[in-house]
Amino acid sequence: MKIAKRLEKIPPYLFVEISKKIAQKKSQGIEIINFGIGDPDLPTPTPVINELQKTSLINANHRYPETDGLPEFRQSIQKWYKNRFNLSFNPDTEILPLIGAKEGIGHTAFCFIDNGDIALIPDPGYPVYSVGTWFAGGECYTMPLTEDNQWLPDLNAIPEDIARKAKVMWLNYPNNPTSAIANKEYFNKVVDFAKSYEIIVLHDACYTEVSYDDYQPISFMEIPGAKDIALEFHSLSKSYNMTGWRVGYVVGNQKLINPLMIVKSNLDSGIPQAIQSMAMTALNTTQESINKRNQIYQNRRDKIVEALNSLGLNVEKPKASLYIWAKIPSGYSSAQYATKLLDEKNIVVTPGSGYGSYGEGYIRLSLTIPDDQLDKGIDKLIN
Ligand SMILES: Cc1ncc(COP(=O)(O)O)c(C=O)c1O
Repeated sequence: MKIAKRLEKIPPYLFVEISKKIAQKKSQGIEIINFGIGDPDLPTPTPVINELQKTSLINANHRYPETDGLPEFRQSIQKWYKNRFNLSFNPDTEILPLIGAKEGIGHTAFCFIDNGDIALIPDPGYPVYSVGTWFAGGECYTMPLTEDNQWLPDLNAIPEDIARKAKVMWLNYPNNPTSAIANKEYFNKVVDFAKSYEIIVLHDACYTEVSYDDYQPISFMEIPGAKDIALEFHSLSKSYNMTGWRVGYVVGNQKLINPLMIVKSNLDSGIPQAIQSMAMTALNTTQESINKRNQIYQNRRDKIVEALNSLGLNVEKPKASLYIWAKIPSGYSSAQYATKLLDEKNIVVTPGSGYGSYGEGYIRLSLTIPDDQLDKGIDKLIN
């Protein structure tokens, strides 16, 4: 038996040792405080769950859904975009529901990447951008995200021949793992760059609804001309505490949405309809309750940042996303530092190197940890 060559490109799982240690400690009854996972601990809102209970009883919802979802769901996405960003998308041609953003991101590579094609990939970054590219037979060109450039790809550093060959550029703001945000001025430069080299921009906007201190993240689609060249991915996972329900969507130019519809309709059968009904209810969540939820994360952010700063790590408060991105002391790799925290303090953090080689030297802590656990974790950290 021989597995496909494309799987050989997948880097080995970096955290094998850490995962083993966690399992070992747990089996010894040691309490582990986990800042590693970016998965909301807060429940899916009650009206959304009530909607599932109601709509799961409807017989039509027991049957195959359509790949492009219920027309009402696409219309509710249209309404949400209009309310949130004052942008209009045609619900029949410019909006496509996804089984979570991850599914759409992975499948998108098959729409635009042929053997040997180049995708511009941020590093550190969400690993699915590069894995999807490899699965489609493409090559990843790394765009380093560095503190010096506010964790934004330096467009001038992309060599001319690479820019000419590149088919797509992946971006993600608010960013995982660095928590960086992008402003309109930067996005304008991206639109100009992409247009001049005929590059498709794929913007992962999964964290636009998790923000702090009155900051409101922007949409890439707000930039004049963006709709000609870009897709924007959204997820209900982080926006409405719905990671377990698997629902997201993508908006953009019909010419770019169509290929994804072709790929998806041949590979998946859409989102269960009762879950689409949940998503419609979620998209009607008031800004007030989102603000309340964000205030919980903000309080956690403030506590963790204060604790890390008291340890001398010099961390800034992020304006958005679910993560604290902290530079570690010199003399350790990020995996070594994460292992040290696990060995000495029974705390799990994610080594930055798991998001690419430019993540080396950093660790990521997630704010999706219940308050009592967070307090215990901070106590262990600083004592
Ligand atoms: C940047 C980024 N994009 C996409 C996803 C996946 O979102 P979904 O749960 O909708 O698949 C995540 C999840 O952690 C993420 O961090």
